[in-house]
Amino acid sequence: MGEPIIIDCDPGHDDAIALVMACALDQLTIKAITTCAGNQTLDKTLYNARRILTLLNRHDIPVAGGAHKPLLRDLVVANNVHGESGLDGPELPAPAMDAQPDNAISVIARVLEASHQPITVVATGPLTNVALLLATYPHLANRIKRIVLMGGGVTLGNWTPAAEFNIYVDPEAAHRVFHSGIPITMFGLDVTHQALVKDADVATIRAIDNPVAQTVAGWLEFFMCYHRDPKWQLDGSPLHDPCTIAWLIKPELFDCESVWVDIETQGKLTTGMTVVDRYRVTGHAANADVAMKVNREGFISLLCDCLTQYSQ
Ligand code: RIB
Ligand code: CA
Repeated sequence: MGEPIIIDCDPGHDDAIALVMACALDQLTIKAITTCAGNQTLDKTLYNARRILTLLNRHDIPVAGGAHKPLLRDLVVANNVHGESGLDGPELPAPAMDAQPDNAISVIARVLEASHQPITVVATGPLTNVALLLATYPHLANRIKRIVLMGGGVTLGNWTPAAEFNIYVDPEAAHRVFHSGIPITMFGLDVTHQALVKDADVATIRAIDNPVAQTVAGWLEFFMCYHRDPKWQLDGSPLHDPCTIAWLIKPELFDCESVWVDIETQGKLTTGMTVVDRYRVTGHAANADVAMKVNREGFISLLCDCLTQYSQ
């Protein structure tokens, strides 16, 4: 039995690769996968999660959909990045399993209540479901060991100059999560923009002879289209969400700093910004470990190791 985790995601190409990695090795035991609205609408992210689990032959993992929209705001989707399906590119099998009949929040609560040990919650989309879980079942906060999330940035925004997409979509939810008192490890753009998959890496993945690796190569080729724009000043695709899973499997690949992080929810220009007190000028106690560096080669090697597992 590996480290028990619950993954809340908005697949999404990078979410999908994070799920592939999480399912590949015995270090992690996925107790549930839930989806939120973000990269695409909830119906599409839930459908995609079911298709991904079918591809991975993981019918054993319960999957459920959560909130259709952010706590207060209208939903913003990233169809410009992930396409109309939210997972454009390679053909995927039709889902072989139904979603759970109840909502993601009650599924997560049920898993937390039934577990004999606290569970790590991995969040790779907007934090709406996590915030609703904490608001609906406050007594279960102590059943969450840590929240490992992709979102925000110390110096970077990718949806506005100040805000990263996941936090921008639901800043009120992010504010509740960062003020929950639950230990947080945050993978923001500063580190995910170092976790680059380059053309040569895609060729390496293409050479792994199994359907999962071929599908991941196809997802990467689609995901690259958006990131080839010279405005990003990147020589590859940033694998945002897989950083959360890579850290859980091989934390030594990352350097993290314990700092205070708060979320701007009112700013005319800065709503959705993660305000990170790296120089500890506020005197606030640290509430998050923020990843600042990653060993890119080691990250890519781990991804390839995970993909090779699907050849057996
Ligand atoms: O800003 C990148 C994040 O937004 C990733 O999680 C991506 O999947 C989208 O959800
Ligand atoms: Ca995501």
